Amino acid sequence: YDYDLLVIGSANADLVIGVDRRPGPGETVLGSDLAVHPGGKGANQAVAAARLGARTALLARVGDDAHGRLLLDAQRAAGVDTVGVLVGGAPTGVALITVDPSGDNSIVVSPGANGKLTPGDVRAAGSLFHASRVVSAQLEIPLETVVEAVRNLAPGTRFVLNPSPPRPLPAEVLAACDPLIVNEHEAKAILGDVPVGGGAADWARILLARGPRSVVVTLGAQGALVASARGVDLVPAVRVDAVDTTGAGDAFTAALAWRLGQGDALADAAAYAVRVGAAAVTRAGAQEAYPTREEVAAL
Ligand code: RIB
Ligand code: NA
Repeated sequence: YDYDLLVIGSANADLVIGVDRRPGPGETVLGSDLAVHPGGKGANQAVAAARLGARTALLARVGDDAHGRLLLDAQRAAGVDTVGVLVGGAPTGVALITVDPSGDNSIVVSPGANGKLTPGDVRAAGSLFHASRVVSAQLEIPLETVVEAVRNLAPGTRFVLNPSPPRPLPAEVLAACDPLIVNEHEAKAILGDVPVGGGAADWARILLARGPRSVVVTLGAQGALVASARGVDLVPAVRVDAVDTTGAGDAFTAALAWRLGQGDALADAAAYAVRVGAAAVTRAGAQEAYPTREEVAAL
């Protein structure tokens, strides 16, 4: 394989303002100076993997504009192969982000060019799919594009999905996931009105019964649950002081996907990914906060 990981997904300019608290409807609050960071769940994953040392390619679409150049520069600086990054068709996607003093974020995404990444773009990138050990996707691009990605997987290539933002998933996509990676909010959204008692371990089992070969439920400061035919295991968290959690889930997913491709068992890959996610929350921004392999080892 030429690539350890192919990420198909979004690239956004993150417009970030720190706030003491979020405004309610009809309310205005003053925040910090504006920061503009390269972001987007797909672009974030690609940078996170490349910083860990994975040979990584990104399939995405940006606008022919300053935000698009910011994103391409960030990918190249991290060592991501941008041969699959298409330019034009709509302005670059934008994420409006507020970060509060506890490091928690709220995000509104305007998809822009991400919404123009088509099934045809996936088919045209067929050689990237055949050259990749693992393919990773999220849901800030059209669902039909993710479906096409699943159909273009080469035999033996592993598929990892973080369904964010969540929406109902076709059986064809669920069956390809190994694993499906969700936080509690995404788990509930995907399970819909299925009665869920107990807690995350139950959600993991019910999600697994929907077809994925494995499921990972991320639990923030509690760590993560991994579920497969072998059972459900808790992977404990690493304690850190959170500055900005934006994009930590993307770093987790990228690290997990990479380690699985390198042959790690699911629980081992998740334990590594928990450390990568923990390192990512200790610094501001998404991509700029991602650790190198050496920094993870030192944590
Ligand atoms: O997961 C974090 C990312 O979500 C941000 O970088 C923002 O662009 C949105 O896509
Ligand atoms: Na961060």
